[in-house]
Order: sequence, then C-alpha cells, then structure tokens
Amino acid sequence: MKVIVQVCVLLAIIAVAYSASSTWGVHNVTDSVLLNKRVHYPAVRNVAQSFYFDIPESYQNNNKVISAIYLQDQFRNSSGPANYLVSGGPGWTYGSIQMRTQTGHGLNVTILVYGK
Ligand SMILES: *[C@@H]1O[C@H](CO)[C@@H](O)[C@H](O)[C@H]1NC(C)=O
Ligand SMILES: *[C@@H]1O[C@H](CO)[C@@H](O)[C@H](O)[C@H]1NC(C)=O
Ligand SMILES: *[C@@H]1O[C@H](CO)[C@@H](O)[C@H](O)[C@H]1NC(C)=O
Repeated sequence: MKVIVQVCVLLAIIAVAYSASSTWGVHNVTDSVLLNKRVHYPAVRNVAQSFYFDIPESYQNNNKVISAIYLQDQFRNSSGPANYLVSGGPGWTYGSIQMRTQTGHGLNVTILVYGK
C-alpha cells in the first residue's frame, strides 16, 4: 500500500514537471475573469529561453484577489514551456510566473486569471 502511494506521488511529480499547461488554485463560478491573454514568443535556435508574466501587467493595476491561474499550452504536443509560480498567485492580488521554454522552442500559451 505504502509503495503504491509512493509510486503515485512520484508519477504526479513527473506529470507536473513535464506538463506544459499549468494550473494554480481553483476558481469559483462567482469569480470574474481578471485577465485572458495569449502570449507568444518565437523560438531561438539551441536556446532555452525564460520569460516572466506578471499580474497585473505593466501599467495596469489589480485590486482583486486572484483565485486561480490557468496557463494553457497552445502547442499541445509536449514542446511547451515549464512553468513556475515565482511569487504571489492565488490568495494575492499579484502574481509572477516564469515560463521556461524547451531548447530550440518558442512558446504559445494562453493565460487566464480569475479573481474576486
Ligand atoms: C464560491 O463562492 C460562494 C459565494 O461566495 C461560496 O459560498 C462558496 O463556498 C465558494 N465555493 C468555493 C469552491 O470556493
Ligand atoms: C498559437 O496557438 C494558437 C492555437 O493553436 C494558434 O491559432 C496561433 O496561430 C498560434 N500563434 C502563433 C504565433 O503561433
Ligand atoms: C509543436 O508545435 C509547434 C507549433 O505548432 C512546433 O513549432 C513544434 O515544432 C512542435 N514540436 C514538436 C516536437 O512536434
């Protein structure tokens, strides 16, 4: 039993590490969409690039508490980026996401943020 649990945890970690789409938090039907944006960066040969996406975006402000962030990979072929929530996120009015592309790939994602 214990082994099964450990295997499951391991698989879950692997799944998270390799999934190009990421979700942080959960949203409620009563929450509103704070941001819905497509982000695209072209590939650079032989380079893995890092990009940051900030909520709110530059020159915008946000006073709603974020409940969920959905980062959806638009490549859908496992060549999307690895994503990390660097700061803020659900429970905060701000958030910063780092997206690290795979070597030689760009990225094309949509970012959907809910809050209340
Ligand atoms: C959704 O919001 C309603 C009203 O604010 C609240 O009663 C309910 O518990 C919330 N559900 C979740 C899953 O947070
Ligand atoms: C990003 O992905 C969407 C959905 O697959 C596609 O329609 C769009 O053309 C792509 N954008 C770029 C710049 O590749
Ligand atoms: C995945 O799709 C993107 C955009 O369509 C393309 O640039 C990339 O080469 C594809 N990757 C693989 C491994 O097929």
